[in-house]
Amino acid sequence: MRPRRFMPVGPLKGTIRVPGDKSISHRSIMLGALAVGETRVTGLLEGEDVLSTAAAMRAMGASVLRQAQDDRGGAEWIIHGVGVGALLQPEAALDMGNSGTSTRLLMGLVASHPITASFIGDASLSKRPMGRAIEPLSRMGAEFTASPGGTLPLMLRGASPAVPIEYRLPVASAQVKSAILLAGLNTPGVTTVIEPVPTRDHSERMLRGFGAELSVEIDSDGARVIRIRGEAELKPQVIEVPGDPSSAAFFIVAALIVPGSELTIQNVGLNPTRAGIVEVLRQMGGNITEVNPREVGGEPVADLLVRHSALKGIAVDPAIAPSMIDEFPALFVAAALAEGTTVTTGLDELRVKESDRISVMAAALSAAGARVTETEDGLTIEGTGGDPLPGANNQPVATHLDHRIAMSMAVAGLASRGGVEVDDTRPIATSFPQFEALLDGLKG
Ligand code: S3P
Repeated sequence: MRPRRFMPVGPLKGTIRVPGDKSISHRSIMLGALAVGETRVTGLLEGEDVLSTAAAMRAMGASVLRQAQDDRGGAEWIIHGVGVGALLQPEAALDMGNSGTSTRLLMGLVASHPITASFIGDASLSKRPMGRAIEPLSRMGAEFTASPGGTLPLMLRGASPAVPIEYRLPVASAQVKSAILLAGLNTPGVTTVIEPVPTRDHSERMLRGFGAELSVEIDSDGARVIRIRGEAELKPQVIEVPGDPSSAAFFIVAALIVPGSELTIQNVGLNPTRAGIVEVLRQMGGNITEVNPREVGGEPVADLLVRHSALKGIAVDPAIAPSMIDEFPALFVAAALAEGTTVTTGLDELRVKESDRISVMAAALSAAGARVTETEDGLTIEGTGGDPLPGANNQPVATHLDHRIAMSMAVAGLASRGGVEVDDTRPIATSFPQFEALLDGLKG
């Protein structure tokens, strides 16, 4: 455990740049590892989750190398892929660490290759449901031996050839969608995923970018019908990964709630399937301006100028949840400082993230003196109207191996009277290794 107390600060001013998008980083390595030839990636997130994906792709035959680019820590990642259908049998279990994305997407890749792989992970990942990916991948012919409850550790024997399926997603999950599409890459014929509720579309954009034949159609019920033709040949790419809006969210909320703040966050990815947090914070009265909108790596990006704002509580439309699914812990902190009541509903999926983010945030915010009520599928939060939270000093708040809980409560500490002690900051390195250094730099 590495505990740390996050103390109240003066205004956050200046300019920061957030690291590369986690979802796009995972997919860059996976698709690069399947393309024949050299893929080059800049802006890759060098967090532990993405490094788990890199290690797994190496274990299955790809070459994934980091090349230092400049003395400010920039790097280019050079990937030589094996070709679709040519992944090698890994010699040891694939250690997925804390990463649900690595696990579910790689299960998809292995499912249509003639190899067997074991997947293991940390205590948090080993509790998370894998049945949602096992079910469709079994229909494609893969065979699984999972731990009770459909969890890790599990063993997966891929099918060769796999069988193309048409699958309607029962849960809104980009990971499950992507697992099926990636399995479809090495499956003869056309694999179809029907997505009634849209989720992040990085897999679709990037598979197309690498040359796969993929189409998206909206059916008469408004569902997205995604088709991929298998036995694809992927062409290597040069990729610039845009900044991660999920990492930016902590600094957006921090600047909104710390009086006097005026912060520019550069290079924030604003793909519409990810940008829900900006919309909701604006509905609450957040002053967020998009500067220099542009495209990076085929994704919309802008610099965000965020000024301290008097936030107001709102009822958050559950339909927006998939486009900000990882940002609710940060939103709950903003709500705790707003005037009036914020009501969130329809968030069942938050209970199966790196932790149960509904109950863990309810406990952590209550410990910091916020007024929070947990419901079956969300939180209701009575804000302070801008007054600092009392803080949580006597007892550290429990983060349960969840990076986003740790960062959210660090931000809550900035807008508290007595500070907030977080029990363990180590999980932050899974997605945002520079978080504490960036924050400390702003405190001047
Ligand atoms: C991700 C999808 C989401 C998200 C996760 C990253 C992805 O998970 O929470 O952090 O890269 O596809 P679900 O598919 O479980 O919603």
